Amino acid sequence: MDIPKTLDKHNIPNHIAIVMDGNGRWARKRNLPRVAGHNAGMIALKEIVKASSVLGVKHLTVYAFSTENWKRPQEEVKGIFKLLILYIEKELAELHNNNVKVNILGDYKELPKEALNKLEKSLETTKNNEGLQFNIALNYGGRREILRAAYLLAKDFSEGKVTEAEFTKENFESKLYTKGMPDPDLVIRTSGEMRLSNYLLWQSAYSEFVYTDVLWPDFTPKDLEDAIISFQHRKRRYGGV
Ligand code: FPP
Repeated sequence: MDIPKTLDKHNIPNHIAIVMDGNGRWARKRNLPRVAGHNAGMIALKEIVKASSVLGVKHLTVYAFSTENWKRPQEEVKGIFKLLILYIEKELAELHNNNVKVNILGDYKELPKEALNKLEKSLETTKNNEGLQFNIALNYGGRREILRAAYLLAKDFSEGKVTEAEFTKENFESKLYTKGMPDPDLVIRTSGEMRLSNYLLWQSAYSEFVYTDVLWPDFTPKDLEDAIISFQHRKRRYGGV
């Protein structure tokens, strides 16, 4: 039987998580500095956020800066935060108009002051919005998140707030950055790499993965639809038959 290659609008994944990879290679192919690749990546991101809203995706999570990304050259790290500031300055009003709620996953309080101020403003402005939940992973690491949750739950235990019997999946998840969010149904990674790279390690236990060779700055809403179509043909069994 031929598999239809059209999007089923009634089976849109509730939560899509993306590893936006390939900005550096996109720039190198054009003899541009790496930051130019991130700039093009930011432009691609704007379109994907809009398309996700239109498609009815409820949660979109993007990996913008990992706990390991501090190892990159100073100039590149600074450039990424400048772009983040620019992105919020340019997009906040429109995100808010479109009922998008911004959330941050990661220890974002450690970010440079100006970026932190802008982020806090975007969290405050959009906090009551009920449309697309747009989660930006910043200074995010999956192992760090799991360790942090284990520490927080153990602390509650030592203070007598939880009992040993309350070391449950639900109580543990309430200590993750993703508290209250559903797990990602679909994880997309661009640029041909097939790694998780410390992204949503706990949450992606049963996610479907789609990899594409497209570099992130070239990733369009059409590519997003293709990834969703691929997802729609998977049989999810969650360990059953
Ligand atoms: C990975 O590509 C990309 C990043 C680590 C940064 C992602 C940043 C953006 C998309 C733009 C900024 C937008 C916001 C909201 C902060 P890479 O540099 O690892 O690419 P490479 O593997 O080709 O070198």
